[in-house]
Amino acid sequence: MAVERTLSIIKPDAVAKNVIGEIYSRFEHAGLKIIAARMQHLSRERAEAFYAVHSERPFFKDLVSFMISGPVMVQVLEGENAIALHRDIMGATDPKKADPGTIRADFADSIDENAVHGSDSPDTAAQEINFFFGPDEVCPRTR
Ligand code: TYD
Repeated sequence: MAVERTLSIIKPDAVAKNVIGEIYSRFEHAGLKIIAARMQHLSRERAEAFYAVHSERPFFKDLVSFMISGPVMVQVLEGENAIALHRDIMGATDPKKADPGTIRADFADSIDENAVHGSDSPDTAAQEINFFFGPDEVCPRTR
């Protein structure tokens, strides 16, 4: 399997619950390496741009308001099959449908406040990584 990179966001609800470390620990136990990271409070414009693909969906306005309601922790994860592996660890979009032991099952309260984001394809991952990080902010591991 190929080594991939994916973009992860720990959303404002999970940052507020003080579980950044617990979520990082799940990434590390799954063999995903954190190769870039930043905490930031998104502006409305940046949140709208990030979720532009959903701009016509009925939940778009509430999603943007939620994403700017507090700081987020954004990171690039690297590892074998990282995109699908990360989404497995996250669990289903709706925490009520997420498998036990997934991040969303354990830390999310609802489909609209669901703790984490993860890229869903190699193209999206490349785009989303570029959205948040410049080339010199990503630090591939040499050992
Ligand atoms: P989506 O890309 O479908 O899910 P995922 O985050 O699992 O890739 O949706 C993006 C986000 O939009 C989702 O994480 C939370 C929000 N959302 C809602 O608030 N309500 C909804 O009914 C859906 C489908 C998504």
